[in-house]
Amino acid sequence: MAFLRWIFRLLMVLIVSHSVYVMFYFTPDTHSPRETMADMLRRLRCAKLRRKFSYITSAKRLNMKIFTQELDDFLNCPYKLNTTEQEINRLRLQICCNATGSIFLTKRNTAVNQTIPYETSIKDTYTMNPAIHSMLPEDFPWSGHRLGRCAVVGSGGILKNSSCGHEIDKADFVIRFNLANINDSDVGLKTNLITVNPSQIQREYNNMEKNPDPLVERVSVYGNASLAIPAFAYTFCTGLSIKTLEVLHPIRPQQPVVFFSPEYLRTLDRFWKGRGLKEFRLSSGFMLISSALELCESVHVYGFWPFETNLQDNPIPYHYYDQMSPNRKMHSMSEEFVWLLQLHSQGALTLHLQPCSLDEC
Ligand SMILES: *[C@@H]1O[C@H](CO)[C@@H](O)[C@H](O)[C@H]1NC(C)=O
Ligand SMILES: *[C@@H]1O[C@H](CO)[C@@H](O)[C@H](O)[C@H]1NC(C)=O
Ligand SMILES: *[C@@H]1O[C@H](CO)[C@@H](O)[C@H](O)[C@H]1NC(C)=O
Ligand SMILES: *[C@@H]1O[C@H](CO)[C@@H](O)[C@H](O)[C@H]1NC(C)=O
Ligand SMILES: *[C@@H]1O[C@H](CO)[C@@H](O)[C@H](O)[C@H]1NC(C)=O
Ligand SMILES: *[C@@H]1O[C@H](CO)[C@@H](O)[C@H](O)[C@H]1NC(C)=O
Repeated sequence: MAFLRWIFRLLMVLIVSHSVYVMFYFTPDTHSPRETMADMLRRLRCAKLRRKFSYITSAKRLNMKIFTQELDDFLNCPYKLNTTEQEINRLRLQICCNATGSIFLTKRNTAVNQTIPYETSIKDTYTMNPAIHSMLPEDFPWSGHRLGRCAVVGSGGILKNSSCGHEIDKADFVIRFNLANINDSDVGLKTNLITVNPSQIQREYNNMEKNPDPLVERVSVYGNASLAIPAFAYTFCTGLSIKTLEVLHPIRPQQPVVFFSPEYLRTLDRFWKGRGLKEFRLSSGFMLISSALELCESVHVYGFWPFETNLQDNPIPYHYYDQMSPNRKMHSMSEEFVWLLQLHSQGALTLHLQPCSLDEC
């Protein structure tokens, strides 16, 4: 009898402790076991995708269907910035390229009569004449402090109907490209730095010396934003860039025209190729994202999506503002994209590829 009582007590203890365990397991959140299981699987999948995209280095042999499905899943995972990764990239880029000291030609880093080798062909050189030198900025315009939260806004058609304008405008510093259209709904209005492509000047404002009004009107839209031109990328760029500087300098002194240092762009190009990026020449978008990684506290990247359909497999235009098709000879945007995805997965920058939610206002 005593033995049976002992067995009974043991059974009771087991039942009670088990139900305590069961209560403990299920009461903190009201998840059913099935939801808890699903949650665990989701977390495992997120970790797996993060690992996978952290090491991606080439867009070749990508199966687009699987890639976009996995990317869509990954973008719905909780996002983690990694301050260690941010600092590693900042340091590497400072050591190699030093945007603060050399992104633009300034009176501080360039002397009168200095010989400037071109970015794409160092056999060709430009000699800095005194008149142009006098119009260079004294120094890097934003030295002495980090630029805070930066938004780098590419021209990808993925921004169309994105409602990201408000979020972009909340950034401390906004970088745009090629005098792209701005509006408050999809891309925002705030602009601190915008690039100007010399071929754009050649195409649309060749008459600017006689009639500067159309160009002045176009650039005024960006308020006091600096206009950055790759004046020494190719020899054909220089005359057009200098003309632009000469025309705008007296009319819009509050809106500086600045020239990218060809040496800076060349070292940046070497830096990424040395790390394995396979491309003929970096796009200005990728170059300025690199500058932002060095100069900004955090980097948010919008409108960089080189593919013809979005994550939901709907067709999108190449640019959000025109019907142009890509120049695939010059840049390999899909190769650059996987590098951006790698940086995103490592927590060094944030890629925005989904519409922005309005409730984040
Ligand atoms: C952040 O990055 C560093 C360097 O790559 C890595 O060692 C660390 O595990 C990362 N931290 C997290 C939380 O992922
Ligand atoms: C970058 O350039 C600035 C200005 O010329 C200089 O003060 C700074 O020491 C340079 N930084 C590095 C890491 O070379
Ligand atoms: C630049 O070169 C011109 C012509 O060769 C010369 O007259 C001038 O003194 C030089 N200026 C400087 C600052 O070296
Ligand atoms: C632009 O610059 C002008 C002249 O320096 C200044 O008065 C104005 O407040 C600036 N505008 C903005 C939006 O910063
Ligand atoms: C954007 O929205 C408009 C109007 O709803 C629609 O006609 C157009 O197809 C959309 N474009 C893209 C790229 O989503
Ligand atoms: C904003 O600009 C984009 C691209 O030019 C255009 O598709 C969109 O309709 C514009 N939205 C508004 C509200 O103007």
